[in-house]
Amino acid sequence: MERIYLDHAATTPLDPRVLDAMMPYLSRCWGNPSSVYMEAQEARRGLEEARRTVARILGCRPQEIIFTSGATEANNLALRGVAYAMAARGRHIVTTAIEHHSVLHVAERLEKEGFRVTYLPVDGEGFVELGALEEAVGPDTILVSIMYVNNEVGTIEPIAQAVQIVKGRNPKALFHTDAVQAVGILELDVGRLGVDLLTIGAHKFYGPKGVGALYIRSRTPLLPQQLGGAQERNRRAGTENVAGIVGMAKALELAYEERDLRVAHYRALRDRLLWELPQRLAGVYITGPKDPDRRIAHIASFCIEGVEGEGVLMALDLEGIAASSGSACTSGSLEPSHVLRAMGVPETLARGSLRLSVGRENTMEQIERVLAVLPQVVERLRSLSPLRRAAPRER
Ligand SMILES: Cc1ncc(COP(=O)(O)O)c(C=O)c1O
Repeated sequence: MERIYLDHAATTPLDPRVLDAMMPYLSRCWGNPSSVYMEAQEARRGLEEARRTVARILGCRPQEIIFTSGATEANNLALRGVAYAMAARGRHIVTTAIEHHSVLHVAERLEKEGFRVTYLPVDGEGFVELGALEEAVGPDTILVSIMYVNNEVGTIEPIAQAVQIVKGRNPKALFHTDAVQAVGILELDVGRLGVDLLTIGAHKFYGPKGVGALYIRSRTPLLPQQLGGAQERNRRAGTENVAGIVGMAKALELAYEERDLRVAHYRALRDRLLWELPQRLAGVYITGPKDPDRRIAHIASFCIEGVEGEGVLMALDLEGIAASSGSACTSGSLEPSHVLRAMGVPETLARGSLRLSVGRENTMEQIERVLAVLPQVVERLRSLSPLRRAAPRER
């Protein structure tokens, strides 16, 4: 049976061209980039070339890029690094109720350590309430962290507008955005966005796992969170993952070279899913924005009445289809998604959440197969549901 992979928001396959770019750094150029001899210099050149590539696409200077072990580490470093460095100036942090846990759990920990955190509400489509942002930012606000694109429902947050509001209220407050789900699809120019810190993670754009980057605007106060050697200009200790970093830069370069074609392809597949599934199956509701321009091109998300998301995923898997009920981190736990809860989705409906995220290798034929199989799977599960079977007796 042909497998159909529809979980690109969780991770993407490695592009063979990226693997080719990485290979020399996994074999021939194995030197430690911090050493002085020839073997090291080759690795150093690869590392710095990658830094220049990432900086070019983000519209910043190479020295403003710090390589990390992934987006989780970059988010941790952004929040903790800034909070601890600026604690003497203020102890208020603003974020949203729908961030990825690599931001939310850090914010919760900082709260325990004496920082005050405001969690901004979102509307029914997942858009952050800008009025609440304006009200929240005050003279003691040191950092605002708002994600660029929500990973569960695909909402594109108005980052440039949010930055303006924050800087208007308090020019000293720093702005961080987790741009993980935006890379390769949306504008990533940090100057145009106006952000001070921005997170990316390579495996969401056909790069390798275990590598990411944090853009940090020059002169931004930041206390390193990983201590040891002097790598990354003393801001992130540890020998760099040279092959991974070279792969990330190549993947980023390809993503922006091929952006128009890729985005048009994602949108065609996503729109077919978004508009057709509710036609074919009763009790299906789109989650996130209905306006196709205000949701990210690769994510279609729904809530399905009368089923558990996990059950749908398992049944789809048996049919050869890989999907998700939201973020990879919440699946497997019985807790309904914090994102859907913040959007006001009733808990029983939130349990039936489904995220289909498309990618380069998907075809329209695959989408048609999903549209044929999914209603059958859901109807079968609904007919087995104890609630359904009990219903006729109650009437
Ligand atoms: C929005 C967002 N931020 C951060 C992460 C964390 O990425 P990683 O697990 O690769 O560190 C993810 C991964 O799902 C994500 O979607």
